[in-house]
Amino acid sequence: MNIILLGPPGAGKGTQAKLIASKYKIPHISTGDMFRETAASGSELGTKLQGFMSKGALVPDELVIEIVKNRFLKEDCAKGFLLDGFPRTVVQAQNLDKILLEKKTKIDHVISLSLSDEEVIKRLSSRRVCRVCGAPYNILTQKPKVDGVCDKCFGKVIQRSDDNPETIKQRLKVYNDQTTPLISYYKKTCVLFEADGSGTVEEVFKRICDFIR
Ligand code: AP5
Ligand code: MG
Repeated sequence: MNIILLGPPGAGKGTQAKLIASKYKIPHISTGDMFRETAASGSELGTKLQGFMSKGALVPDELVIEIVKNRFLKEDCAKGFLLDGFPRTVVQAQNLDKILLEKKTKIDHVISLSLSDEEVIKRLSSRRVCRVCGAPYNILTQKPKVDGVCDKCFGKVIQRSDDNPETIKQRLKVYNDQTTPLISYYKKTCVLFEADGSGTVEEVFKRICDFIR
């Protein structure tokens, strides 16, 4: 099963992706997580990626496509995948179509999570993540059992550097300008499910599973 998860920053893509990937036993491919990992390594490429992310700007298409192409070479993608945060532009979507054509496969489901700007700002300002395993937390709705410590791996729970009011506003603008055209792109080529991202994590997950089923 090959799935794309679309949605504005903070809509719950990462949270839902982890649940879907675990239920359907497919790898969760998050370009944002991949870029943050590379940035943390301190390499030249990492510093370059961090420069775009900290401004809330998109990483240039050529660079993203190259990194994703390499990820698809890994064996775990053979049985399906869940894409979180990719594609994000029409050029990326067109390149993904080419990659999948070469692999003789296609996208089965595109799920677009929607959430109001007000709720996005609230969720992102209160989001925390584990620096080690990436588990998502939220100081309003999903606190770790011990303050600042991950329940799963005991890693340090931190705030993402792009979760500040100015960068959140910029990320929302970039999403509206560059990523929303993908909704009509996929409406033409695939079955696109527009899922309401509001409500509890469990409620949103149920909506998605009902659709996939
Ligand atoms: P990326 O990491 O993909 O960030 P994003 O799209 O801005 O989305 P987020 O990860 O912030 O939110 P999410 O939807 O995953 O929400 P989450 O589940 O965490 O990208 C970061 C940057 O990398 C980009 O800005 C860009 O620079 C670059 N990049 C990445 N991919 C790229 C690409 N393809 N091309 C170019 N550049 C690229 O939830 C948010 C919070 O809400 C959490 O605290 C969570 O606990 C809470 N929450 C979740 N669901 C619920 C719920 N139902 N109720 C209450 N709280 C909830
Ligand atoms: Mg995410």
